[in-house]
Amino acid sequence: MKPRDYSLDSLWMPFTANRQFKAAPRMFVAAKDMYFTTDDDRQVLDGTSGLWCVNAGHCRPRIVEAIKRQLDTLDYCPAFQMGHPTEFRVADLLRDLAPGDLNHVFFANSGSEAVDTALKIALAYQRVRGEGQRTVLIGRERGYHGVGFGGISVGGIPANRKAYGSMLPRVDHMPHTHNLEKNAFSRGQPLWGAHLADELESRIIALHDASNIAAVIVEPAAGSTGVLIPPVGYLQRLREICDKYGLLLIFDEVITGFGRTGHAFAAETFGVIPDMITFAKGVTNATIPLSGVLVRPAIHDAIVNNAPPGMVELFHGYTYSGHPVATAAAEATLGLYHEEKLFERARELAPYFENAAHALKGSRHVIDIRNYGMMAGIELDPRPGKPGARAFEVFLRCFEKGVLIRVTGDIIALSPPLIIEKAQIDQLADTIAEVLKTID
Ligand SMILES: Cc1ncc(COP(=O)(O)O)c(C=O)c1O
Repeated sequence: MKPRDYSLDSLWMPFTANRQFKAAPRMFVAAKDMYFTTDDDRQVLDGTSGLWCVNAGHCRPRIVEAIKRQLDTLDYCPAFQMGHPTEFRVADLLRDLAPGDLNHVFFANSGSEAVDTALKIALAYQRVRGEGQRTVLIGRERGYHGVGFGGISVGGIPANRKAYGSMLPRVDHMPHTHNLEKNAFSRGQPLWGAHLADELESRIIALHDASNIAAVIVEPAAGSTGVLIPPVGYLQRLREICDKYGLLLIFDEVITGFGRTGHAFAAETFGVIPDMITFAKGVTNATIPLSGVLVRPAIHDAIVNNAPPGMVELFHGYTYSGHPVATAAAEATLGLYHEEKLFERARELAPYFENAAHALKGSRHVIDIRNYGMMAGIELDPRPGKPGARAFEVFLRCFEKGVLIRVTGDIIALSPPLIIEKAQIDQLADTIAEVLKTID
């Protein structure tokens, strides 16, 4: 290991146990395809696609070259009142990938910004159609929609909310769908739980009145909260209720987008078309930040056609919306997904991945395993009084053994790049099995 030419003090790391990390840093210095290289020159298998984002594996030349070319040609273009060809081409590509008629794209930079954008579009839409009193936003317990004030308000992860005051007013939450008594060790979509969507109608609409509600936002399959797969019929039921009462339905596909469930979007996989889809992460294979919202024409047209000619229609956007380098990365990434048929590959590999994950049933501490496509959650029994400690130790030991997993609470979340080979799936599962034997 080279001597460090930096201190560990000045950087405040996000969503990290800073003191623990700095006492024993885990550093990556390079990455290629399925592997990271550590600063002590070890290869670490990426079982998490970075943070659910490197869907095509690391440092893919086609994407790297496109970024370099774009940087040499047009490094930046003002996002407001000016355009450049790449952002329009990428919008077309995304429109073609999207299910149904989600055929307008608004760009942002992060998943959190995409969520804020979608919530704001929902409010703006309700207002232009004369329903400006519809300001209530509905999320779900355990939902993760990033860390903006919009995202944490509709999100339902207590630790991400508790320090931040009152957040957005007029938000409510549907129940989550996690139930170990009914659904433990389900393969694919659990059979029990569609009726949980009915609470939107029976409790939330009854309480707030539909005429006050703008939109409902959910992850079609929730990732960051620990892999919660939608019960059979659940998303369909949400769609029906939203249609019945004129509520917009937003799918946050920041992690499910770009092949994770075996199609470009989980909306297609589960056969439910929302009114908006947020995306990020995999759109550039995580090389350069880019995110956005796919929007149905009725929403886009209502807002855009409502403003007087020559006037800005939506007072929203970011300096880096549709950044040339980010959209060049996206164009190359979407081309690579297509050329290598990576979404189909995810579909084909899914049964093998499912079997490997479920083979951990019976390992010490494992109380549930759930999966869909190329995502799996393995839930451990927490140590009494120390939530998360057991899984964190599994994470550290796996890293020592050359495998990167992600843990959230006491749940191990696996989401490898879609280029993973079967032998590497075995390595992932075998390492976790070995480590679980050694953990108290
Ligand atoms: C469903 C979902 N929405 C939003 C986000 C936030 O994305 P970002 O960290 O890019 O802001 C995430 C991140 O994991 C996510 O999983």
